[in-house]
Formats: sequence, structure tokens, C-alpha cells
Amino acid sequence: MIIAVDGPTASGKGTIAKALAAHFGLPHLDTGLLYRAVGRQVFLDGGDPDNGGDALAGCAFPDTLLNDPQLRDEETGGLASRVSVHPPVRQALFDRQRKFAEQAGGAVLDGRDIGTVIAPEAEAKLFVTASVEARAQRRFLEMRERGAGVTLLEIQDDLRRRDERDRSRAVAPLVPAEDAMVIDTSALDRDEAISAAIEAVKQATGAN
Ligand code: DC
Repeated sequence: MIIAVDGPTASGKGTIAKALAAHFGLPHLDTGLLYRAVGRQVFLDGGDPDNGGDALAGCAFPDTLLNDPQLRDEETGGLASRVSVHPPVRQALFDRQRKFAEQAGGAVLDGRDIGTVIAPEAEAKLFVTASVEARAQRRFLEMRERGAGVTLLEIQDDLRRRDERDRSRAVAPLVPAEDAMVIDTSALDRDEAISAAIEAVKQATGAN
């Protein structure tokens, strides 16, 4: 059973994907981390994330980079969004994601184009979304906890910019698959969002 979980930044899709993986006993891949590793590698190489050649070179990042805590930073998220517009970068990461999706027993993948491009055959597709305000508020609290000195408005601006880029890119833009179940987490707390997602997957697949 493949479960595809797509949605914008800070929608709660990562939390939901992890919880689904635990509930259904499946391995989980956060595909955003792959794009973040590419963005980070381009930065470490002194390259330009908007340059297709530099971005493609970043795809040769070492596996150890996936454990770099800086991958979670907002800056790296921005770099990831920029390198992800280049089709050769998406192509380079495709096989890796496919292999994960095809493993025996199934998998949960979260990202932007799992239900549309990476695993269109997925048995369950969720599109997790929330208002910019709700997402910015969550990200703000998260970052304040980590001691980062950013304002709510800065985060909102950054999310809007990132959404716009992810939605308008020519290849594999952020759009719900036609057969995706949409979960809006704006007014849900963590547990409510997780329950809604588990119910949606049970309904779609008959799994328990
Ligand atoms: O989910 P995230 O914030 O970690 O993703 C970072 C960026 O990576 C996101 O802005 C766009 C890109 N991305 C993508 O294009 N396709 C995916 N499947 C996952 C992430």
C-alpha cells in the first residue's frame, strides 16, 4: 500500500505522514529533505540555486548530508524551493523516490508531487493544506522555541513566496491530484489532523 501525502510547507503534512506510517506500519520518506539536501549542497559548493547546472551538481550530495540539522532551517527550505524548479533536478531525484515507493509492503511518502508524479498509482492520496495565517503561526511558534529571531510577518511573506514558486513552476507544480482527499488543518489540532488522515486512508483502502 502506497500512501501519498502532498501539501504546502507547514501544513502539517510531515506530522501526518509520520503518524500514518506508525499507524499502518509502513516506512516513511520525507521527500522535501532530498530537495533540501540539494539546496544545501549547492550552498556549500558556493553555487547558484537558480542556475540549472549548479542545482543538478547539488544532486550528488553525500547521504550523510541528510542528517544535517541545518536542512530544517528556513533558509534551506528557500534554497530547496529554488533548486526544485529545474526539471533535471526533479528527474535526478525521481528514481530514488520511486525505489522507496516500490519497496515490498508499501510506504508513506510526503512532498509536493507524490500523488501526481512520483506515485500516481498510490492507494491513498492526501492533500494536506491550511491557511497561510495558520501555517505561519505554527512555524513562528516552532522557530521561537528554537530561539530564531524572526517575526510572524517575515514568516508569512516567506511562505507566500514559497507557495507561489511551488504552485507556478512548469514541472510538477503543487496541485492536488484529482483523486486526492483534501484535509484542511487550519482549525484542527495535531491529534484531530492525525485522526482525520487515518480515517481518510482507512476509507480509501479498507485497511485498518
Ligand atoms: O516540504 P519541504 O518544506 O521540506 O520542501 C522544501 C521544498 O522542496 C519545497 O518548497 C519544494 C520542494 N519539494 C518539491 O518540489 N517536491 C517535493 N516532493 C518535495 C519538496
